[in-house]
Amino acid sequence: MLVDGIGLLATGDPQRGAGPLGTIPDATVVIDGGRVAWVGPSRSLPEAAGEDRLDVGGRCVLPGFVDAHTHLLFGGERAEEFAARLAGHPYTAGGIRDTVAATRAATDDELRRSAGRLATEALRGGTTTLEVKSGYGLTVDDERRLLEVAAGLETPGLPRVHRTFLGAHVVPPEYAGRADDYVTLVCDAMLDACAPLAAWCDVFCEQGAFDTEQSRAVLYAGKEHGLGLRIHANQLGRGPGARLAAELGATSADHLTHLTDDDIAALAGAGVVATLLPAAEFCTGSPPAPARRLLDAGATVALASDCNPGTSYTTSMALVVALACRTLGMTPDEAVHAATAGGAAALGLDDVGRVVPGHHADLLVLNAPSPVHLAYRPGVPLTWAVLRAGAEAWRAP
Ligand code: NIG
Ligand code: FE
Repeated sequence: MLVDGIGLLATGDPQRGAGPLGTIPDATVVIDGGRVAWVGPSRSLPEAAGEDRLDVGGRCVLPGFVDAHTHLLFGGERAEEFAARLAGHPYTAGGIRDTVAATRAATDDELRRSAGRLATEALRGGTTTLEVKSGYGLTVDDERRLLEVAAGLETPGLPRVHRTFLGAHVVPPEYAGRADDYVTLVCDAMLDACAPLAAWCDVFCEQGAFDTEQSRAVLYAGKEHGLGLRIHANQLGRGPGARLAAELGATSADHLTHLTDDDIAALAGAGVVATLLPAAEFCTGSPPAPARRLLDAGATVALASDCNPGTSYTTSMALVVALACRTLGMTPDEAVHAATAGGAAALGLDDVGRVVPGHHADLLVLNAPSPVHLAYRPGVPLTWAVLRAGAEAWRAP
């Protein structure tokens, strides 16, 4: 099959075209077996490239977004907490326990419907790969249940789903004052039950959640259970999370709102992907993460939504790109690259995030002439069509 009539193709590979996004004007993409088989200027299209065509009418095509950090699995919502924050109450992560109570009370069907609605919303916004965390169950059965619901999201009409175990999100109320006992539960029975359902282990390393030793114990146990490592680090203040990510060789450290120069050097030196979440900073009124300092230090930067009911109730990667340009000082090319190829790096994936031969043919067709419009037209739905594995997963009405 061919996708042609592409006014501007952002391949994500600087070797293949102009600028950091490797853009090619007047391009065609050839798809075979759900994978990209050829990309290039339409005038160089090989003969016998296929009959089945999708003409996108001069629009811009980019890789589907890879949203490498979400908490899509939860019951209830926290609009009142958000309104209180607008009235001046700071975010302290205390509301996580409200969502834990609502999640435990929700039926499997309710959780499936709510997660399915958010995954559908993400797809329509151009996301074709989605990381999904547990973390609002915090019992062995509830954490396993959340990961089972996430496994059920894996259908061709939704984004590809990668599952993360976040049993160490906060200490649940029944373990108040006994954090170390809860960490033991996470490291033993909870990981035994959940590791077979997940690829990644995450921990919220922050004052009020888990300290360095507790976080290290959880991540070691996750590694022993065969999981890759990621960390919620330096979100609410300076702390040890970023350096722990570097010490343990985590694939990604996420949030990173408050970093010292030493933290930045440690992350860049260890090759930890810095996953930045500007929508969470926007919704909590926090300062912006030091994206420019990270980029200048040579770190790989990813952008993700952090979709969750407390700090960032959005699935919109277009909004995230717009915020990254305006609040983090990233160029549109850097932001789109971080939201696609960067997200893939944060998930250790080498077959999504770019439009190059061998990659899954996961494409976002924008109702716009260039990716700059994602930032230039904030809040406007620009999706014309989304392809997953070469098949149209959604087309704007
Ligand atoms: O990534 N920081 C920890 N977890 C979420 C917030 C969760 C919540 O407030 O419900 C985050 O921002
Ligand atoms: Fe998060």
